[in-house]
Amino acid sequence: MWTPEWVLSDGEIIRHADAKIHPLSLAVTYATTVFEGLRAYRRPEDGSYSFFRLREHIERLQVGMKVMRFDRRIEVDEMQEALSRLVRANSPDTDVYIRLLVFISGIGLMATKGPVSYFAVAQPRDKPRFAETGMQLGVSSWSRLSDNASPPRIKATANYHNARLTQLQAQADGYDGALMLTPQGKVSEAPIACFFMVRDGELITPSLGSNILESVTRDSIIRLYERRFGRPVIQREVDRSELYFAQEAFLCGTGQEIIPVVGIDRLPVGDGRPGELTRQVQAMYFDCVRRNVPDEWGWHTPLT
Ligand SMILES: Cc1ncc(COP(=O)(O)O)c(C=O)c1O
Repeated sequence: MWTPEWVLSDGEIIRHADAKIHPLSLAVTYATTVFEGLRAYRRPEDGSYSFFRLREHIERLQVGMKVMRFDRRIEVDEMQEALSRLVRANSPDTDVYIRLLVFISGIGLMATKGPVSYFAVAQPRDKPRFAETGMQLGVSSWSRLSDNASPPRIKATANYHNARLTQLQAQADGYDGALMLTPQGKVSEAPIACFFMVRDGELITPSLGSNILESVTRDSIIRLYERRFGRPVIQREVDRSELYFAQEAFLCGTGQEIIPVVGIDRLPVGDGRPGELTRQVQAMYFDCVRRNVPDEWGWHTPLT
């Protein structure tokens, strides 16, 4: 397995040990960071790499930077070139997970808007722990952040305080993970992934108005599913008690990919094992990201 040695810092490739940030920067003091987790998948047949939905990840980052009023813009082409150099510099031989963090490196008052810097780090990722067995989730007593307080729609580091409290509570209570509810009591998402459930043959996911991150994987699953099965994914508000009616459930995200959910609040989901449709969605997703099927929507970006 390869070890990542090189980091991208504002376009320059530097050693891990040289990536530094000032303790008084706004990023450290006020969590003024917006970030992305994206992947470059390796095709085993020829060892080539391609970013999955790079454009959508950078566009979400751009909106995050805009909402946070950063005084800099980052362009998709610029990132395609820079992240390609980062991947090559690390000589990977497996899929690559990339963390791209854009932050205010300046020191000053809370409303300071710059200077803005970025780091990107490439890492190997083992297969997520629960991909085969599935997860046991508990509904958290922490509420999901609301859109008008700290919008979960953008991937701001500050939002992960809420996610972390939720995950820590779930673990303390003996669960593998958690589901968060909106302040109105509707199902939102997991701390680092979006939620889908199957009920009476329909695939259902909380709507974008349910205080969720605008997830790239969620969107990919919706489009792939609708094309493959010829039926819509139902995007709507989901009540907590509906969770107990689900025959299947799963979480999704760039890092997690697709993780079956086999129990919620110590009640089995369906028969308590990963469901059949969940397995089909997993296979459909991997066929897409690994480029085993034609790239209908232009989701794959080669390294430059
Ligand atoms: C809170 C949250 N929801 C959903 C997701 C999934 O988003 P994406 O599919 O864009 O990776 C993530 C992933 O990082 C997340 O942190």
